[in-house]
Amino acid sequence: MKNIVALIGSRRKNGNTATFIRTILDGLTEEGYFIDYIFPQDFQISPCVGCGNCFSVTECVIKDELPLLQKRILDSDLCIVASPVYVHYMTADLKRILDRCAWWVHTLRLQGKPVVVLSTCDSNGHRTVIEPLSEIMTFMGANVIATVNGSQVPNQLNNPTWLSSISEEIKRRIKKYIELPPQSNVFLEKNFNSMKQCMIWKNEILKGKKIENKELDYWKENGMLEYQSFSDYILSVSCINCCK
Ligand SMILES: Cc1cc2nc3c(=O)[nH]c(=O)nc-3n(C[C@H](O)[C@H](O)[C@H](O)COP(=O)(O)O)c2cc1C
Repeated sequence: MKNIVALIGSRRKNGNTATFIRTILDGLTEEGYFIDYIFPQDFQISPCVGCGNCFSVTECVIKDELPLLQKRILDSDLCIVASPVYVHYMTADLKRILDRCAWWVHTLRLQGKPVVVLSTCDSNGHRTVIEPLSEIMTFMGANVIATVNGSQVPNQLNNPTWLSSISEEIKRRIKKYIELPPQSNVFLEKNFNSMKQCMIWKNEILKGKKIENKELDYWKENGMLEYQSFSDYILSVSCINCCK
């Protein structure tokens, strides 16, 4: 059974954002997809303390429920990341979760996973969440397959014609990409190349020194430094998984 995780940055379980997502996903449960809704208040997650340990030495110093949430995202076949617009940005709840996953940005940890980015707003936040959130997801290694904001003004969230055309298109992409092995795109390739250069540089600097670097270890352990492109790398990973 294919597993879709919807990470929703609103505490309102029946609010506009959750309702928008349920409308888009309507019918998928009956078709055999498992949908896992995650709200910020479901997990006890503290703010990042800024020590930078996750980048370099060890796991996060904060011991809370973040690893449980991360596992649900990593184990999913496709992820929806959504937030209402709060003062021209995503909610602090969602940003707190992303800050705590900061090392994923340097390791493309989502490894080509298909991701849909959504937001809702009243009147003037049409791009203020979907643009930065899509960028963050791409830096984390996700293949963003669709982005959409639903607003009250102009009326989209209560407009059945708009909702039905958006839902149809997003469902079509979800069903297509969830069946494919992880995919790359031009933004992921650019990101892979620049991060790879950083890791090669770090490797040179740390050569012969007994200094741990968790991110560099991740690149090495996963063989990512050996590949010319992200596309070649994720293809090799999906071949290994498929032969298991
Ligand atoms: C604290 C706060 C700040 C908001 N800021 C904006 C904003 O800058 N622009 C906007 O268009 N809507 C803004 N809104 C409206 C919400 O984005 C909108 O109602 C959203 O659909 C709520 O989603 P929810 O019901 O899932 O929480 C704000 C709402 C709140 C509570």
